[in-house]
Amino acid sequence: MDAEIDQLEHEVEKIYQQLDLSDDPELEKLVDENLKCRYRVQQLKMSIAKERAKPLDRMISVQAALSAHLQAAIRAAYPEAATVVKVQLTSSAKEEFGDYQCSNAMSLAKAVKLQPRQVAAAIVDKLEAGDLIEKTEIAGPGFINISLRRQPVIEELNRLLVHGVRPPPVDRKRRVIVDYSSPNIAKQMHVGHLRSTIIGDSVARLCRFLGHEVLALNHVGDWGTQFGMLIAHLKDRFPDYATKCPPIGDLQAFYKESKVRFDSDEQFKQRAYAAVVSLQRRDPDSTAAWKLICDASRKDFQRVYDRLGVENLVERGESFYQDLMTEVVDELKSGGHLVPDEGRLIMWPPGCDIPLTVVKSDGGFTYDTSDLAAIRQRLFAESADWLIYVVDIGQGVHFKGIFSAAEKAGWLNPAVARVDHVGFGVVLGEDRKKFKTRSGDTVRLTDLLNEGIERAGAKLAEKGRDKELTPQELKAAQEAVAYGCIKYADLSHNRNNDYVFSFDKMLDDRGNTAVYLLYAYTRISSIARTANLSPDQLLKLAKSPGITELQHPKEWKLAKQLLRFADVVDKLTQDLLLHSLCDFLYETACVFTEFYDVCYCIEKNRDSGEVIRVNHWRILLCDATAKIMKAGLDILGIRTVDRM
Ligand code: ARG
Repeated sequence: MDAEIDQLEHEVEKIYQQLDLSDDPELEKLVDENLKCRYRVQQLKMSIAKERAKPLDRMISVQAALSAHLQAAIRAAYPEAATVVKVQLTSSAKEEFGDYQCSNAMSLAKAVKLQPRQVAAAIVDKLEAGDLIEKTEIAGPGFINISLRRQPVIEELNRLLVHGVRPPPVDRKRRVIVDYSSPNIAKQMHVGHLRSTIIGDSVARLCRFLGHEVLALNHVGDWGTQFGMLIAHLKDRFPDYATKCPPIGDLQAFYKESKVRFDSDEQFKQRAYAAVVSLQRRDPDSTAAWKLICDASRKDFQRVYDRLGVENLVERGESFYQDLMTEVVDELKSGGHLVPDEGRLIMWPPGCDIPLTVVKSDGGFTYDTSDLAAIRQRLFAESADWLIYVVDIGQGVHFKGIFSAAEKAGWLNPAVARVDHVGFGVVLGEDRKKFKTRSGDTVRLTDLLNEGIERAGAKLAEKGRDKELTPQELKAAQEAVAYGCIKYADLSHNRNNDYVFSFDKMLDDRGNTAVYLLYAYTRISSIARTANLSPDQLLKLAKSPGITELQHPKEWKLAKQLLRFADVVDKLTQDLLLHSLCDFLYETACVFTEFYDVCYCIEKNRDSGEVIRVNHWRILLCDATAKIMKAGLDILGIRTVDRM
């Protein structure tokens, strides 16, 4: 474009020189206007240059860009065909297969009744090369092999080195609410809540990385009839609870005790019912007792969050929606959405086989009611336009009902706001049965995390790391490995499936595990240090013109792999399946190893060990790899260490 403008200017200049301006006021006026125009062109050119020099705040998605090109070509060649474009990075290392491959011609051929290769040719014929495509070739039964131009890849890598890892473009900035963790007061925070915490935290991190405004909510179960028995039991066990903080050490045991009494002692049961009523009436005594019980639980939960590095999680439990529930019921009633059913008031959300119970026969509210109040509050009062609920798959029917009801009630417009139930399967023990301790009890999260720390310590000792690292470094490494491996084991499996919890597998340093990735990361990020290059020097290098070379096939392969990050994140945005990010990071570590094995970064004299040559460009590729891995691990909530 710049060249075209220059050419035009040059021609205008020539015409000027041939003009005779004498005595032609009309012409003089035109020349004057023309001058003004040229001034504007100069201004525009300057602002374009300024715009180009700005750090791009989004990464380019190669796959998305190629897909768009191909989509346009297919549309031009076959306007009638409705196809979803399939473009993938070529798995073969052979250069003649190109870098990306499109396989649409095969399926299209059936629809248009032509030979696949003919179809491929027709698509290629309409394909605009754009900045990215060097050449295309039709291969085999009708694949379109696409070779990328080196220049845009080099430029993007340079931007990565200079401006850091940036997210791919998003359609618009959203206000996102992620509802996750959400354990229940006075009950065991179990492995299901651990899954919700790990997945939810990662989803929230992803959304923040994408540049959205995120509110992470802990929708704790802090309301309901069970509080009656807890309050009644507290009043009996610690009569002076109002003045002296009761030493409830083990809340679960406390819960069990009160449950036993509730089930066996009729008088206690009556007192428990009375306590519920007085709590709902906001009686100060019962409210104080309720608060004490919630506080004790909260402390337990917080310990788990602190260890896992879960921050910015705002507690907003079911109790928050108390008054809003009354409003919701009134609104649904006057909208004619509620029908009586054996004393209850229910709502049939369109497309659902099970109704929501909005008001119980005793006039009380349910889990359904509080989620209806919550979704309404989140859409209106919070003005959120993306709601994410990270809750086990078992609650799928519940959320389907809530989303459908919200649409029916006119609160949720799918064209404006997006809602996702991010479900997950159950955690199994190595015997493939429900995850339990040897004695058959539910596993306490604290015990589980403690075992992780112990096992990680043993693993590091087995490798002799305890002798190499300082005590602080060892502790940091132990925690990074322990919590990293628990998170990664969860996140690296398709969340929709059940997953088998196994410390042995997650601590294996050879497969697709956190330990492997953490080692790979420390190794890669230490290469620049070995070459005695500080981050500042690296930055200077990255800015020096012409530094980038991608001549070796393994350099090229690594570069393409690194740029895939934007596409992987882009896909994550759609499906919120975090295991694809894990797979990507593992592949990146493997592709890096392929590169590092054959491309020397630092060449040393074999005998003296003296550094003969530092291949700066390759060191920069190492740096880019470390940056991408770090960004990925950050999204997964996995802490890295410099030494381990
Ligand atoms: N407390 C619930 C449970 O343990 C999970 C709550 C999930 N969030 C929600 N908005 N319903 O099953």
